[in-house]
Amino acid sequence: MLKFSWSCVIFITLSIGQSCSKKDTAQHTHSSKTTIADSAMVVSARKEASEIGLQILKDGGNAFDAMVATEMALAVCYPFAGNLGGGGFMVYRTNDGATGALDYREKAPLEASKTMYLDKNGEPNPKLSREGSLAVGVPGTVAGMFQVNEKFGTLSMAKLLKPSIDLAKRGFMITAKQANMLNRFQENFLEINKDSILFSRQFAKGDTLKNYALANTLERISENGLSEFYGGHSGQILIEFLSDYGGIMSLKDLEEYHAVWRQPIEFDYKNLKVISMPPPSSGGIVLGQILKTLEAYDLKQLGHNSIKYIQLLTEAERRAYADRSFYLGDPDFVDIPVDSLLDSEYLKQRMISFSFEEATNSKDIEHGEITGYENDETTHYSIVDQYGNAIAATTTLNGAYGSKLYSSELGFFLNNEMDDFSTKPGVPNMFGLIGAEANAIAPGKRMLSSMTPTIVEKDGDFWMSVGTPGGSTIITSVLQTILNVSEFNMSMQEAVDAPRFHHQWKPDEITFETIGFKSKLLDSLSKRGYKVIQQDSKILGKVDGILRLPNQKLEGGADHRGDDTAVGF
Ligand code: GLY
Repeated sequence: MLKFSWSCVIFITLSIGQSCSKKDTAQHTHSSKTTIADSAMVVSARKEASEIGLQILKDGGNAFDAMVATEMALAVCYPFAGNLGGGGFMVYRTNDGATGALDYREKAPLEASKTMYLDKNGEPNPKLSREGSLAVGVPGTVAGMFQVNEKFGTLSMAKLLKPSIDLAKRGFMITAKQANMLNRFQENFLEINKDSILFSRQFAKGDTLKNYALANTLERISENGLSEFYGGHSGQILIEFLSDYGGIMSLKDLEEYHAVWRQPIEFDYKNLKVISMPPPSSGGIVLGQILKTLEAYDLKQLGHNSIKYIQLLTEAERRAYADRSFYLGDPDFVDIPVDSLLDSEYLKQRMISFSFEEATNSKDIEHGEITGYENDETTHYSIVDQYGNAIAATTTLNGAYGSKLYSSELGFFLNNEMDDFSTKPGVPNMFGLIGAEANAIAPGKRMLSSMTPTIVEKDGDFWMSVGTPGGSTIITSVLQTILNVSEFNMSMQEAVDAPRFHHQWKPDEITFETIGFKSKLLDSLSKRGYKVIQQDSKILGKVDGILRLPNQKLEGGADHRGDDTAVGF
């Protein structure tokens, strides 16, 4: 089953329910393999992408080189979220302790307007912000890869793109999960593209899919550089294609797009230092608000996934997501009171109305008052190299296969990231998230995200790289994974596999994964006034992470909920 030729990779089978401390918790039947490596590791949504990234490390490249190779491989073999037509975020920590973040998030086209999705009655038409050409934000992924290469790369873009070009020509194997997903969207593909596309057929596990159009696009980018996509031949094909489908994006949008280096959100949680994504992602701030709120409580004593633990996290999440919806947006357009939102005293005040006796009602919670201050589908990968550099990167098309609009000439899907804006204050987006003025649409603005690529230090050294897809549930999945290791001594793989739950202020409900929570526990929460949601086959996130063990080896956590794979040496 596990075919790795390098001998220093050791696999240990760990049974989930045995080594972590659990009190009032539950059945969890999944048992995953843990991957341990001596010095370098890549964990991503696909085995092919992880192996391509790792080969770059073996060839002497660093984590940033491996990032470009892995991200481009995901664009080929994970069209669900891997992309050339989307965007993403990356957080890094170099081996000398320097930290930073790269924003290659999509932007609203220059012709976009605040009311572009409202009908004549002023009501939003969600179809327009979620499907087809008007849903597409200006893609940032290719610019992001060139920025990473320019600042940190040690190998040429041509060398980093070559394995993905070869993979697209050679073809990749469709997995059972991938076949199910592709088959589920057949009608949408046809309806939105008005024609059959490369993915228009019934897929079965083991099929091989070749994408020559994407190989050609990558080859042109490899030969002509960044401008090939942002205004050159490929860019022109893209704009003509979008125009034919009624889109508003122009060549000027592509020419003016830039990926941006930003200061990460950094805060302490007990003995850990957390480094996470700043706005235009809400991830770092909301994660920080929740963790800083929890700092005042003894989580170990409450017990993992116990009723009190679930109540406490829910109430902290409720209050943080209420702040998210009001305060957060693109920092190039709105002022965000970051320090106040992360202030321990402010967060303590926010919890004054909390009691273990009874649920708070979201109707009674608004954003907090801050003196002086005048809103599902994605993929994450983590990489640590043999030199001690670490990255956490999350990239997305937004929904599954984005807008479903597929350029057959270029070989990739386009995002539907425009739906991450608040199309009308108070109206939920596809993740049920509500936004306000701070996340209103404006020309050239970046839409608010929940993506939370995160690096954690312990005792001044790299400790964990972690992240996940999952729309609004990204932040709470990252949160629980960090707590599973730091508070409950789980291994990285156990922490990733453990069952998860989620609350986001509105709708006022706690969503539980289908597997892993006893009905007795859920009944007790209902009795205390919580609305409990547990649908069939519900999963929350597909977390991938890497943990530095006390013996300095690396442990991978690759989520069994997907086809995620950790490889290392
Ligand atoms: N498109 C999902 C997010 O950025 O949060």
